[in-house]
Amino acid sequence: MAAPPGALTGSHVLRCVQCSALQCQPEPLFQCSSCRELLEVVFPDRGPVGPDAARRLKQTWRERRLSNAPEDVSGVWRYRELLPLVAPHDRITLHEGNAPLWPLRRATRALRLEQVWTKHQGMNPTGSFKDTGMTLAVSVARAEGFDRVACASTGNTSASMAAYAARAGMSSLVLLPAGYVSAGKLAQALEYGSTVLQLRTDFDGCLRILHEVVRRSRIYLLNSVNPYRLEGQKTAVVELLDQLDWNVPDHIVVPGGNLGNCSALGKGLIELFEMGIIGRLPKLSVIQAAGANALVRTMRERGGAELVPVKPETRATAIRIGNPASWRKAVNVLRRTGGACEEVTDEEIATAKLELGAEGIGCEPASATTLAGLKKLVGSGFVKTKETAVLVLTGNSLKDAEYMLDDGANKLSEPLEADAGAVLKAMEKTHAQN
Ligand code: F0G
Repeated sequence: MAAPPGALTGSHVLRCVQCSALQCQPEPLFQCSSCRELLEVVFPDRGPVGPDAARRLKQTWRERRLSNAPEDVSGVWRYRELLPLVAPHDRITLHEGNAPLWPLRRATRALRLEQVWTKHQGMNPTGSFKDTGMTLAVSVARAEGFDRVACASTGNTSASMAAYAARAGMSSLVLLPAGYVSAGKLAQALEYGSTVLQLRTDFDGCLRILHEVVRRSRIYLLNSVNPYRLEGQKTAVVELLDQLDWNVPDHIVVPGGNLGNCSALGKGLIELFEMGIIGRLPKLSVIQAAGANALVRTMRERGGAELVPVKPETRATAIRIGNPASWRKAVNVLRRTGGACEEVTDEEIATAKLELGAEGIGCEPASATTLAGLKKLVGSGFVKTKETAVLVLTGNSLKDAEYMLDDGANKLSEPLEADAGAVLKAMEKTHAQN
């Protein structure tokens, strides 16, 4: 196997995204000690690697796909040259990543683009993209000697955290907005043995309470304000580019809630570009539900200078968030990659979800924002004919079955008599309607 280039040491520091102060001893809330803003992982020794080293790295990553070693099978740890160093015995992995990249035939044709793909992160071990960040952050928690971890969640973070904590032998605490988490996600956190507390507030309220809890007890915070979560999540774009044989798409489109994921994917792209592993940056665009459009309003009304929080309301409960923690990181990514920020209504999300379904691809409502958003971006001319786009689908369809069953356009029949005649009649009726 080719040796990875020596320039990649993996040694890192935490730096404030606002005032750039370096943090020697990160606080439990991962806030800058001078200005309270979020922190990010930076690699001070890292620079451009040069064409030969870039080729060797790509070759190493490709060869690892033939290996059965857990750190090579994982679609996160496979790219470990880009991650903070974690000793092998501290790595907690469920062989996350490895999310399929599927072409969308109908959408490509309907939108007259060169190619549209979906990168389906809902195919991760607990059914969402959260696993790619959780593997790293739980490993860091273990390396730092924590035995308790916690998060506030709209459901997916909690399912993922609960699974990785269980693998690590840690106990976990989940705070959820009562009444706004799908049954599938709740069931997962319970199955993995988490302590699940429902609070009479929304996600933003849960996160606020959790911060207070973390201040008052020794428990490791696993929301995406934890910069190690984003380090793991950034590998999804590395894997994506690897799957595209390093042909950079024109656009990547991602849903936005707390804005950790778009920040992570943007960071991954910018690092690959600055290291010389890719020659240009795709535009990374963020799509929000119209009822939870804090980033859209922040860009439109304040030019990205200050957050415009909103009172969130959308049927896409995963992104029912009004006060996104990583808004500043997201603004930086939009500016750096030249991406757009767009909003879509719940009706547009429902339509897009059925269109994906008609291509044999199921996903969570929050994920379907990407196709709904791409249609708008094509309509406005931001995405041009003959360009290529990748939609990042963040969650598995089975996470939120209630959504389709409650009032989806595709209806379940009333119970019929167990009689072939009744079935034939119903079949003819459906056929006539279509
Ligand atoms: N899609 C899904 C399926 C999600 O679960 C989330 C966030 C997002 C998109 C948005 O990602 O917050 O990084 O912008 N879910 C979080 C949770 C908030 O608690 O599971 P983001």
